Formats: sequence, structure tokens, C-alpha cells
Amino acid sequence: MCVLVCALSRGGEREQRERGRFVKIGLTGADMLLGIAASIFLFISALLSYTFTRAHTRRRRPQQRKAKLPPGPVGWPFIGETLQLYSQDPNIFFANKQKRYGEIFKSHILGCPCVMLASPEAARFVLVTQAHLFKPTYPKSKEKLIGPSALFFHQGDYHTRLRRLVQGSLSPDAIRSLVPHIESIAISSLEAWAEDRIINTFQEMKKFSFDVGIIALFGCLDSYYKEELKKNYSIVDKGYNSFPTNIPGTAYSNAFLARKRLSQIVSEIIIKRKEKRLERKDLLGCLMNSKDEKGQSLTDDQIADNIIGVLFAAQDTTASALTWVLKFLHDNPKLLEGVKAEQIAIYESNGLGKRPLTWAQARSMILTYRVILESLRMASIISFTFREAVADVEYKGYLIPKGWKVLPLFRNIHHNPEFFLDPQKFDPSRFAVYKNVAPKPNTFMPFGNGVHACPGNELAKLEMLILIHHLVAKFRWEVVGSQSGIQYGPFPVPQHGLPARFWKESVCQRQEAEASFEGDSSCHSLPPISI
Ligand code: HEM
Repeated sequence: MCVLVCALSRGGEREQRERGRFVKIGLTGADMLLGIAASIFLFISALLSYTFTRAHTRRRRPQQRKAKLPPGPVGWPFIGETLQLYSQDPNIFFANKQKRYGEIFKSHILGCPCVMLASPEAARFVLVTQAHLFKPTYPKSKEKLIGPSALFFHQGDYHTRLRRLVQGSLSPDAIRSLVPHIESIAISSLEAWAEDRIINTFQEMKKFSFDVGIIALFGCLDSYYKEELKKNYSIVDKGYNSFPTNIPGTAYSNAFLARKRLSQIVSEIIIKRKEKRLERKDLLGCLMNSKDEKGQSLTDDQIADNIIGVLFAAQDTTASALTWVLKFLHDNPKLLEGVKAEQIAIYESNGLGKRPLTWAQARSMILTYRVILESLRMASIISFTFREAVADVEYKGYLIPKGWKVLPLFRNIHHNPEFFLDPQKFDPSRFAVYKNVAPKPNTFMPFGNGVHACPGNELAKLEMLILIHHLVAKFRWEVVGSQSGIQYGPFPVPQHGLPARFWKESVCQRQEAEASFEGDSSCHSLPPISI
């Protein structure tokens, strides 16, 4: 019911604004006619849902003597507050609501009655302590493209089993051996960007995070399979947010076919591994070797859904975060020089890059690490997540009726001055332990919280650290064109994907820059702190 078919026209681009997890933009002209059908579908869905919600609320009222629905309007009949949400910056929509109604409020968007939660305690209640009462919820059309057996969509034993496997293969111990591989991907990406052209930073970061994802999931993969995965994945990516229909030639149906091919490719890779009796410790290997307590292995479809799902979860999120890191560093030259100093010290200790970066070095990049954390807070890549109440739930005297969507609002929490002083200021030092102002528990959740929290967070941070190391130690970049504005696709990305020009810095340029920086010591002399 919550399939989002509202397409907005902004900055000349048709941009779909579904806000949440792992959902991407990409409607094409072929879908224009379907837009009308979509609107009718949405209208009817909203009408049915609205009528149901009203009836549901009325029917329950006599029994619910104590608990009442959270405050907040449900908007216009049928369409709820969908238009309000989509006619303004969604952050402002949520922030205004929080100002007016407090930390729990209700709304009705896109045919779904929702309860929004903007306090750390409430987010913890839904995601951690009472997680069994709130199931993950995605539109069916998206589920079909990712793969219904992917762990995101599940709760209980199956989820626990899959999660253990995914988390194990992405744990610090497992990914430390990936450092040289990620380093070589980072170096070749940067060399390609510095070819005297303007690049779309976000798109290039997507290629980088895709390649890193492939390494983490498959280890070293035959280049034929890698290209096939890339080609079909990009078709899925394009159709992911289009109107779901099987009509041949539409973006969605192309995506669906490409998704089937992705499964076939993964099956072929599995067959090849079995033939060669290859025992690998990457995610594919872990999934192939897994047996449950009854000795049952996972089916090829279950394996493919999880491989493709993890790749999906890894790509745009990390690419968006990296694009923001570059934007914030570009906008804060003094901070950039501090990060440069940190990275050049490591680069020089490696004989100007003659020796490879080590895991320990990546873990010692204190200032760079703080810049990443602060970028994650500021950008709040996953602004909120969705759950659905599986029963009537009472929280602090408020009723969350069964079937309602529940949205913990990470961004509101990350931008609340009660938890982060002067929240609009980019200030990595707020994560410095010596300041004794480290975020309070449950106030900083860029990777979520609880049973569905991001198992890829260590990999995401590692690949960011490695890319930034080579970027700032050897390259410079300038942003081209407009430098402000945010685009949602659905993850927030700087306007137009941050077009930028990169070039390799000569040693003398670097020395000149260092000399001018020496006059200013504001970014130096950070005491050693453990991450
Ligand atoms: C900066 C980059 C990333 C951010 C901000 C991010 C954020 C998140 C968040 C907030 C969730 C929880 C969603 C929820 O509770 O509904 C999540 C889940 C997930 N993430 Fe990430 N993620 C990132 C990178 C990655 C990477 C690199 C991988 C894998 C290599 C990954 C794999 C996953 C998976 C598989 C889940 C679902 C876990 C489950 O349902 O049990 N993510 N991510």
C-alpha cells in the first residue's frame, strides 16, 4: 500500500522522493503514461487506507480508554499530508512537526497512517527493546527487485541466521584482509578522476563502492562476471523507483528482467565454485557453507537475494556519505589541511606510498575518522527508517495501532540541539573524547540501532578512510558550479551529485600548501584518542 508513486519535478529533473532505505530514483520518459495510472492507483489506495484508518480509530476508541493516538493532524481526506511533505524540504516538514507536537506525532502519508518518533528513547523502544513488536516493511515492488529472501525483510530465526552470516563476513576481523584490495580500487578510481575532466562525484563514488562491495561479497571475481553484474545491477538501479508494472519496455519491467539475470549470474558463480571446490571466506562462501540446526543449506535463490540485497545496501549509502565528506572538506579549508597533515604523515611513513596502507594505520586516522562521523551526522544519509506495528502498542500513554507505520526519525535526533550543540555547524571535534562531549547513548545512529542495525558499518568506514587517505595525500579537487543545495535520490546528496574537478598535486604544490598552513595551528595538536 505504501508504494510511492509521487514524482516531483525539481531542477528540470524528474525526481522521486521516496524517503527511506535503499530506494533509488530513475523514472524515464517510458513511464509518463503510467504516471497517470499511478496517480489513480495512489488515489484509490489512499482512499481505501484512509477510510480504513478512520474506521480503525473509531472502532478502537471505546476499548482504548487510556492510550490515545499521538498528536498531529492526519491532513486532508484521502491524501493525508502527502502534498505537504512533498511540496517542501522533508527535513523542514519533520522539524516543524516536532516543534509543534513534540517527539511523538502522527501523520498520514502516501496512503499510510504513520507515527513519527523523534526521541532517542522512542527510537530505542521500536528498534531495540520492543523490536519484536515492529516488523520491517517495504513496498512489495521493491522487495521483488531486491529479492524476498534478503535479510532486511525478515524477523525471527531466519533473520538471525542470515544476520550472523552477513555480520561475520563484514566484521573487523574479516575485512582487515581487504585493505590492500580496497586501496588498489581507491588508487585507480582517483587516477581516473584526475584526467582533466569534470566528474559527477556521487556517480563516481557509486562505482567505487560497488567495486568494494564486489570484493567483500565475492573476493576476487572473474572480470566477465563482474561486468555482467555491473551491467544488470545498473538496470535494476534505474528501474527501482519506477512505477511497478510488467508492461515490456518500462523501466520496472526491465529492472525485473535484469534482476532475474543477476540471480542467474550468482547461480553460475556458485556452480563454478562448487566445481572447483573453492572454499572462500567472503560472504558468498559463508552463505554457501551455512547449514541450519537441521543441516539444511540455503537455496541458490536465498543466497542470490542476500548477495544482491547487501550489494544494494552498500552502494548508494556509502557513495552518498563519501560525497558529503568531500563537500564538507572542500567547504572547510582549515579542516582539510588538518586532515591532509594527518594523512601525509602516514603517506610519508609508507615511503610516499611505496608501502601499502595497513589496517592499523587506517585505525589511527583520528581526525579523518571524526570528519566521517560528523559528515554522517550532518547528512544523516538514512534520515529515517520504517517499521510496522504487528500489534497495538502503547508507548508513553500513546497508542500505536496495529498496522500503522512507525518512523524513527534519525535526522531529527542528529539535529537536535539538546544532543548536538549548534547542530547546523560542521564540527568534527564534537566526537573528540577529550572534550568529554561524545554523543549520549542512542543519539547518534547513522547506521541504525538494534537487530537490523547496519552490519556493513565497519566496511563503510574502512573504505571511506582509505579513499580519503589517497585523495588528500596526493590530490586536490574543486567543486564546479553551484555549491549549495541538496538532492534526494532518495539519499541526500549535494546538488547535481557534486560536480568536481580533481588533479594530482605535485610535491612542490604540497610543500607550498604546508608552508602556508604552518602559520595556522588550529587543526594541529590533537591529543591521541582511541576510536
Ligand atoms: C555510510 C554507509 C552506510 C550507511 C549510512 C548505512 C546505514 C544503514 C542503516 C541506518 C541501516 C538500518 C536500517 C533499518 O534499521 O531499517 C542499515 C542496514 C543494513 N546495511 Fe547499511 N549502511 C551503510 C553501508 C553499508 C554497507 C557498506 C553494507 C554492506 C557491505 C551495508 C549493509 C546493510 C545491511 C545488509 C543492512 C540490513 C541489516 C538487517 O536488516 O539486519 N550497509 N544500513
